[in-house]
Amino acid sequence: MSDPVALEALLTEDRRFAPPEGFASRAFVADPAIYDEAEDFEEFWARWAEKLHWFRRWDRVLEWTPPYAKWFVGGRLNVCYNCVDRHLDGPGKDRTALIWEGETGERRELTYRDLGAEAGRFANVLKDLGVRKGDRVAIYMPMIPETVYAMLACARIGAVHSVVFGGFSPDSLADRINDARAEVLITADGGYRRGRVVPLKRNADEAVQRCPSIRHVVVVARGGLDLHRDFTMVQGRDHWYHELASRVSDRCPPEEMDAEDLLYILYTSGTTGKPKGVVHTTGGYLTQVHATTRTVFDLRDDDVYWCTADVGWVTGHSYIVYGPLSAGATVVIYEGAPDWPDKGRFWKICEDLGVTIFYTAPTAIRAFMQWGDRWPGAYDLGRLRLLGTVGEPINPEAWMWYHRVIGGARCPIVDTWWQTETGAIMITPLPGVTHTRPGSACRAFPGIQAALLSEAGDPVDAGYLAITRPWPSMLRTIYGDDERYRETYWSKWDGVYFPGDGAKRDDDGYLWILGRVDDVLNVAGHRIGTMEVESALVEHSAVAEAAVVGKAHPVKGQAIAAFVTLMQGMDGSDALADELRAHVARAIGPIARPEDILFTADLPKTRSGKIMRRLLGDIAAGRALGDTTTLADPAVVQELKEGYEAREE
Ligand code: WTA
Repeated sequence: MSDPVALEALLTEDRRFAPPEGFASRAFVADPAIYDEAEDFEEFWARWAEKLHWFRRWDRVLEWTPPYAKWFVGGRLNVCYNCVDRHLDGPGKDRTALIWEGETGERRELTYRDLGAEAGRFANVLKDLGVRKGDRVAIYMPMIPETVYAMLACARIGAVHSVVFGGFSPDSLADRINDARAEVLITADGGYRRGRVVPLKRNADEAVQRCPSIRHVVVVARGGLDLHRDFTMVQGRDHWYHELASRVSDRCPPEEMDAEDLLYILYTSGTTGKPKGVVHTTGGYLTQVHATTRTVFDLRDDDVYWCTADVGWVTGHSYIVYGPLSAGATVVIYEGAPDWPDKGRFWKICEDLGVTIFYTAPTAIRAFMQWGDRWPGAYDLGRLRLLGTVGEPINPEAWMWYHRVIGGARCPIVDTWWQTETGAIMITPLPGVTHTRPGSACRAFPGIQAALLSEAGDPVDAGYLAITRPWPSMLRTIYGDDERYRETYWSKWDGVYFPGDGAKRDDDGYLWILGRVDDVLNVAGHRIGTMEVESALVEHSAVAEAAVVGKAHPVKGQAIAAFVTLMQGMDGSDALADELRAHVARAIGPIARPEDILFTADLPKTRSGKIMRRLLGDIAAGRALGDTTTLADPAVVQELKEGYEAREE
């Protein structure tokens, strides 16, 4: 959870921002009565579901046998049909669906009609490879339009996709492929990031060696500049996408899916070393991403919408692909880094493409702030009309900077709280209704019921965040592990969802999310389990034991601090620390690289042998030490603290 100083800052934050005059009068939702109307939440969600195209209407809105929910029972629909075909009847067919910009500057624009053809073609390629309804397809791609075609293609034929972030290591990819027993892997020769080529196919080859379930690897040629094709195409297994695509039609009938059929699996970090395969289904998921995209982003036909997330995370799934496309939006996709070739890149894109809605993460906002006002100042951001943030708590200074410098003090900011597991936005302002407060995600979305509870389940003003009734886009289980699903999310209180965050409520009844209360870190908006990093560290031959905690970081929100004990005879040198950092980056991905590594002879443990992470957190944060009376050997902590402080000087 956030440290006490940050909490104090939140408590004294009393600025309020009304929806701007011109905005509210035209907003999609301008009447706060929506909250009361949504009290009959089944009715509310059914009205949203009606805005989608169904092959067969549902018989029942909700079947709730805690902790298992079925939404729109008996209904049949296709997500790709709803994201593409549905827009082709009217004027929407010639509307721009995607505007893609590569890091190297090239641009591609597709109308909804083009997108339909590309998704249809990709779907036929998958079908020719024998992919059938229910089969799992792994997608390990850069941010290029083909990634979106691939996701839509899976949805079209009823295959279940599992997108793995392109920054993950071969080992992380292999673990995810194996857990889902994916049969096909879609990847690319490479992608660009900060001027360098990310060797996706080479990583994929390394991963697939460990993946007996993979029958085919489809390789998209990223194109453009000369990518180093330092890999071989394995005969019979590997196929260039453009070769397969040239042999198939671009028309593919959509599969009629049950509302509860799987749409995708997305792996996320939890409190054990093994990532969880979060399962999302079809009807409820699409209903809630659609409803929230329309209302929270106030999306209109003439908007140019840009969410800067990577499609490998849930934000990309819900708010680059399924939400905006189901709403017929014009979606910007950018391949690369915000500071390439210089720190004005994002603002240049906003100006060039006339972006009107911009959704990013607090860690990015803090980086922009640090880079200075002159970068955004050099571009015309006058078309922006709404700003959003997601992924971690936003500190009020960063909110104010975003409001003033990027939003020109005229754009409402929606601070949206949600998770991989919730599938869609859960706590958020509505931009035409809510008086926002910098740093607060404000209140539960209409139809959603959030509470703050104590460990015992009593209502409190500061405590655990809880979701007290089911919602359409909720995860249905953890893939192949119902027990872990029940245990992780539903065992704290009866029939109530436990997201793993702490929060407080202010005088206005607004919610302020304070951060994770479990062993999950949030580094630059990315969820990383401390156990995953610990397992990676102890795999190294020099390491005997490791404990990982988060420490506050001005830009990333949190950074990783690792306390490591070494095997007998090993020396804790700077060179070894660097080697361990590189080892973790190789094992998980660069996002998990520890910032601080402290070698120590002992770790603080309770008498029963449990590592006291809380104390390590205090040390990493430079805080006074908490209660040490339960320690087996209190001297260990004092030594550690002195050691840690000495290395920072
Ligand atoms: C955190 C990302 C504060 C939270 C969509 C949550 C936030 C975790 C916010 C989920 C926000 C997300 N304010 N904290 N607006 N949004 N979080 O699964 O700790 O990658 O549990 O989903 O991010 O991260 P995930």
